Amino acid sequence: MKKRLLIATGGGDCPGLNAVIRAIVKRASQEHDWEILGSIDAFDGVLWDPMGLVELTPEKVAGIHVKGGTILGTTNKGGPFAWPVKDAEGNWTTVDRGQDFIDRLRYQNIDAVINIGGDGSQRISQQLFEMGCPVIGIPKTIDNDLSDTDFTFGFQTAVDAATDAMDKLVTTAASHHRVLILEVMGRYAGWIALHAAIAGGAEVCLIPEIPYNIDKIIKTINERLDNRGRGFANIVIAEGACPIDKGMVYSDNDTPGAMKIKLGGAGLRLSEELREAGCPIEIRETILGHLQRGGTPNAFDRILASQFGVKAFELVLEKKWGHMVSYRHPNIEAVLISDAIKDYNLVNPEGTLIRTARGLGISLGD
Ligand code: F6P
Repeated sequence: MKKRLLIATGGGDCPGLNAVIRAIVKRASQEHDWEILGSIDAFDGVLWDPMGLVELTPEKVAGIHVKGGTILGTTNKGGPFAWPVKDAEGNWTTVDRGQDFIDRLRYQNIDAVINIGGDGSQRISQQLFEMGCPVIGIPKTIDNDLSDTDFTFGFQTAVDAATDAMDKLVTTAASHHRVLILEVMGRYAGWIALHAAIAGGAEVCLIPEIPYNIDKIIKTINERLDNRGRGFANIVIAEGACPIDKGMVYSDNDTPGAMKIKLGGAGLRLSEELREAGCPIEIRETILGHLQRGGTPNAFDRILASQFGVKAFELVLEKKWGHMVSYRHPNIEAVLISDAIKDYNLVNPEGTLIRTARGLGISLGD
């Protein structure tokens, strides 16, 4: 009987997921004694009745490395340990189906699981591992906020999207002598904002790790105006950035099993703050949103995702359960999932990239 490997893609999607799936299947097909199954919509497919599992063959994954999204589907809600159900009063609540999940894997004769996902998904991997599940993690997220890896795949493509937006906004800001604000994703980390600000030549970059002072930003804008009030400024702001005296901008998310808060609106708040502080020129705002997550992965992410996929299957062969593949330039290594989820990978305010930004004259708003 063939051994069975289950693959799932969990959390928010990102460019490169299909390239990982393809790499795992291609590498596994060289062993001849493995059968690969995919769970639909993260681990939900295992928990549905009937189960949502699909067989993955080299033919099925041919050419998918260039496609955005994930052929398996994904969700950033619920999961085995927070499964949404309605209680007796008809209100949504969540229940722990961890043991049910493990039992279902046994019923399906699953010998190994590869869980491709960000921080939330790898927390699920760790819980499953602690319950005896043979699991390997692969880090993905556009936010680049998972520790113990230089980069997660998906991040560089998101940076390309943000940089492309910057390039477009710079020309129109210059033509109209305006302040243009670009809000980018990244959750509690400023990686996308900082990379796009440097690559795109922003005047101001605001990130969660460095709270901003509005007067400092006004000063930077004023310095760029000539005596006829002409000039322009481009600002990149991370969705999690906030001023020194206020918290992040978010809305409540009532969806059962979902993260309780949904970030967004930092750019609009900044725009109001600049107006109130007397910004002398017009301001416009752009929220880049899910354009950073969709579409074709760039070459870097295709290659990283392929490296991760091949390595993850090799860790399956070595039975290195509870490990996650990791990029430590120039190597692809195995690290403990428990280490990778200990802390978020945040921008170091004293680090090289921040020094580079300051050296280029980019204001961090502090
Ligand atoms: O974690 C990836 C991410 O895109 C974050 O940058 C963002 O805050 C969040 O997901 C958005 O999630 P959703 O697609 O559920 O709005």
